[in-house]
Amino acid sequence: MSRALATTPISQRQSLPPQLDAARLPAHVAVIMDGNGRWARQRGLPRVMGHRAGVEALKRTLRLCSDWGIQALTAYAFSTENWSRPGEEVTFLMTLFERVLARELEALEREQVRIRFFGDLEQLPEGLQSLIADATARTATNGGIRFNVCTNYGGRRELVRAAQRLAERAAAGQLDPAAIDETLFAAELHTAGEADPDLLIRTSGEQRISNFLLWQLAYAELHITDVLWPDFDEAALHAALLDYQGRTRRFGGVEPRP
Ligand code: IPE
Ligand code: IPE
Ligand code: MG
Repeated sequence: MSRALATTPISQRQSLPPQLDAARLPAHVAVIMDGNGRWARQRGLPRVMGHRAGVEALKRTLRLCSDWGIQALTAYAFSTENWSRPGEEVTFLMTLFERVLARELEALEREQVRIRFFGDLEQLPEGLQSLIADATARTATNGGIRFNVCTNYGGRRELVRAAQRLAERAAAGQLDPAAIDETLFAAELHTAGEADPDLLIRTSGEQRISNFLLWQLAYAELHITDVLWPDFDEAALHAALLDYQGRTRRFGGVEPRP
């Protein structure tokens, strides 16, 4: 995705650190990229400089996840609640998304990344919407990491939208309400066809979900780190994956006998 990603030969890609077990990696990592503003404030910079540095952290993380064999990365870039921020910050973020997408698309294509965007995309600026449509179409058949960017995304909005769609089909006589089950419901979410995240990482120490993937995170392992998102690097990802590998996932069952 980055220039480095585009030009680094395969042989120079980062191999999986020996402490990590390839067989016990999460298939799908979700990340709440938080702390950009605080990172900037610590340096006496405007908040938006934190967002700019946050893009570099995201490129780094995508690159590492791809190199280490993680199959999907879902990143929370802009929530339905983030419109309440000062107008200049929102405008800066939308412009940043456009610039980064335009600049990185070729590298994404070359690196076989499949990019998709989850959220209410119709409310985004038109220029961004067309870049999103283009990037989604041009990478749709790629076989590398699936990279999902949640933009104007809200978990509750996603659930309401799914309920509406099912209700419309029921009202039209196309669907028996009794036939609605978890599979049918999940098929109406933005994430239809994508496995649920195994691991959720939240940076900057906040211990909340902030309306992210409310349905999909039902059984995700949570890793909260004090690292601010622009500082999220190989060591921080490594620590998150090690933490994940130390967990016992029970899904409501009991631990298997040794
Ligand atoms: C996360 O960083 C980026 C977005 C929500 C767009 P913040 O901007 O929330 O940074 P803090 O939480 O104010 O430090
Ligand atoms: C969550 O971060 C949203 C994104 C990372 C895009 P926020 O900074 O908006 O979350 P709160 O307000 O601290 O819950
Ligand atoms: Mg924040």
